[in-house]
Amino acid sequence: MTAFPIPTLTGTDQLQLESVALSDIAAQFGTPTYVYSRKALTDAYRAYETALAGRKAMICYAVKANSNLGILDAFARLGAGFDIVSGGELQRVIAAGGDPAKVVFSGVGKTEAEMRLALEAGIGCFNIESPEELVRLGETAATMGKVAPIAFRVNPDVDPKTHPYISTGLKANKFGVAYDDALSLYRRAAQTPGIAIHGIASHIGSQLLDAAPVAEAAERVLALVEQINDAGIELHHIDIGGGMGIRYEDESAPHADAFLAPVLEVLKDRPEAIHLEPGRSLVGNAGLLLTRVEFLKHGEEKHFAIVDAAMNDLARPALYDAYHAVVEVEKSDVTADVYDVVGPICESGDFLARDRKLAVRAGDLLAILSAGAYGMTMASNYNTRPRAAEVMVDGDRCHPIRARERVEDLFANEQRLP
Ligand code: LLP
Repeated sequence: MTAFPIPTLTGTDQLQLESVALSDIAAQFGTPTYVYSRKALTDAYRAYETALAGRKAMICYAVKANSNLGILDAFARLGAGFDIVSGGELQRVIAAGGDPAKVVFSGVGKTEAEMRLALEAGIGCFNIESPEELVRLGETAATMGKVAPIAFRVNPDVDPKTHPYISTGLKANKFGVAYDDALSLYRRAAQTPGIAIHGIASHIGSQLLDAAPVAEAAERVLALVEQINDAGIELHHIDIGGGMGIRYEDESAPHADAFLAPVLEVLKDRPEAIHLEPGRSLVGNAGLLLTRVEFLKHGEEKHFAIVDAAMNDLARPALYDAYHAVVEVEKSDVTADVYDVVGPICESGDFLARDRKLAVRAGDLLAILSAGAYGMTMASNYNTRPRAAEVMVDGDRCHPIRARERVEDLFANEQRLP
């Protein structure tokens, strides 16, 4: 590895995030612990701001990537908006001091209760994904005496060339309304009481390393915007979704400037504000998972470093066969060997990394990199494992932003039979 994917991670003998040694964090908070760099997420946000300079724009952080209140707070203070997919995420945004007026609500299955909550809070836009949802939202808003701001999430049928589980803009996906139906849906929405048309949205997938499909989607959306305008309907914003990829291994991940340039070129003559919904690219390489080696086990065919983090903490390797770099936190003089880094869970799929050359002993710390996005938010309690602690490093300080769960928390809402 030439450089760490996490830009604020430094050190060779002793890894540091910003100015804090990871071993100090482990000593203070235990392991496994998710550790984030405030500087890294701030820099990532600023890169989008710079790329959008001179354009009317809103960066709506995709909360699903990492919904910790400390993370949301950091983005709220930077002036971010938020992309949410549930009433729960909205409540987090509000609890973290986010501005509901800057919230866009995506998702194919919004319940009436979630719609009510969002209308009550006064969110900025509902991204509507079906005609049925339009009806439900119009009726809900009307009974509350409110008007719901909407955009249709249009499926541009563009192949984003990413993992099939995280591509969302193809005809075969469940997301968005069909491109060919969009114009008539706008006409219908314009006549629907309780609905105010604000914009148009599209999101084609995640971990995109190439900007071309996003620009292609923007072109398709633009053609539609022109037809919508011709029908006498004005839009305030064009939401081009999230999806910019990051470097996990040796990918050449785009910079916000390079990623957005082709899209901005397509939309350069448009008066509408541009909305973005980035998640991974804001937090993925701002975070790592700190874990301790419990045992080294030498099997017949493979060597295993059995660590105290597992697939319940970081599901991506088990779920997508995703690669996360693993590095030793403190340099030692032991001979390196090739290990599978595995957790204690009773599944063969419980691995965090495979075939990695590591110089480790039992008791040593490892950092699983690029774990800031879709790490903690996808964690579970499988095997009755309390979820990890989370810590935010800020310069030479570190703030606990989530206490480690306790086992008694896990069954606090359960009961024995009467
Ligand atoms: N907007 C919408 C409507 C989305 O569905 C998503 C992600 C985003 C924005 C943010 O995309 P990002 O900028 O983070 O790529 N669990 C998977 C990723 C699932 C992404 C789902 N949608 C993973 O761990 O790779």
